[in-house]
Amino acid sequence: MKFINFKNEKLFLDECEIESPKENQIQIEVHSTGVNRADILQKKGHYPPPKGESEIIGLECAGIVCKIGPNSSKFKVGDKVCAILGGGGYAEFVNVDERQVMPIPSNVSLLEAGALPETILTVYENIFNISEFKNNEVVLIHGGSSGIGTTAISILKNFTDQLYVTAGSKDKCDNCIQLGAKAAINYKEEDFEQYFIDQKIKVDIILDMVGGSYFKKNLKILNQKGRLTYIAALESIKAEANLLYIMTKQLKVSGSTLRSRSPEDKGKIVNQVIEHIWPLIEQGKYKPTIFQSFNMEDVNLAHELMESSSHIGKILLDIKGG
Ligand SMILES: NC(=O)c1ccc[n+]([C@@H]2O[C@H](COP(=O)([O-])OP(=O)(O)OC[C@H]3O[C@@H](n4cnc5c(N)ncnc54)[C@H](OP(=O)(O)O)[C@@H]3O)[C@@H](O)[C@H]2O)c1
Repeated sequence: MKFINFKNEKLFLDECEIESPKENQIQIEVHSTGVNRADILQKKGHYPPPKGESEIIGLECAGIVCKIGPNSSKFKVGDKVCAILGGGGYAEFVNVDERQVMPIPSNVSLLEAGALPETILTVYENIFNISEFKNNEVVLIHGGSSGIGTTAISILKNFTDQLYVTAGSKDKCDNCIQLGAKAAINYKEEDFEQYFIDQKIKVDIILDMVGGSYFKKNLKILNQKGRLTYIAALESIKAEANLLYIMTKQLKVSGSTLRSRSPEDKGKIVNQVIEHIWPLIEQGKYKPTIFQSFNMEDVNLAHELMESSSHIGKILLDIKGG
């Protein structure tokens, strides 16, 4: 099969044997795969796959089930599915534990479905499970124009109209508002902490991928019993803060990573997403924001686009395209 290999931070098309699906796995003929920030880290040698996972880049895919492994019973050959992967998405075929696989909602194409798993599962786990979101709470999403940010807006607008984001340009801010945010703060022109102080808004939940200097500002604008959840630290993993805010406001500071979880753990979130988010998609209340898709041959352009941060929403590889 064709797959995308990498050397010296450059990606290139290569060929390898297709392995058979193992116990509890199914094999998917991949039609599309989402490009994620973590893929860039992996290409640079900073984010190796967890033990036992494919060395091939790619954390999610959509496609058609083409083989069933021993003891797998949830899907049949020909089913249209999407899946959260520990690796292996940048390839024509991938084997994955069936607990990590979801049917594709009927109103989503095979190409678009490659954009669903990684961001929806991450948003669900961090907002609904870890931060215990309740309807109509005030939520702030940093990186509102990112794949994660646009997913969070498009889901949460169904449950609250108190949704705020930060983003790095007027165009990105306008797009976030069009998607459903109440307000978007261009952090390059306005200090987000000052914005919330001036507007006298106290935030119940913050989802942060920036870290560093944002930590102490986040603690300051959180409401009593507020929750701050980290999924990345794009600015810095080191931060300084006034811990009194945590004590006096009874804040909860948490975070999570998805890739390293077991199939059982991922499967729990997969089931929650099928129960609670798939109906939103079927009813037209959630649509993925897809910025651009690239053929396999143009994978370096897809990564350059992500590294430029000029995109809004998800970038896809169209594995069957071209
Ligand atoms: N923990 C988990 O389980 C998990 C799962 C999925 C993703 N993630 C992480 O969540 C983050 C977002 O993922 P994604 O795929 O949605 O990425 P993405 O689409 O590439 O978005 C990242 C955005 O972050 C913004 N940003 C803010 N500060 C930044 C900085 N200092 N450096 C670079 N960008 C900065 C940029 O937009 P502006 O123009 O607004 O700055 C950029 O477009 C990534 O770090 C990813 O690794 C974590």
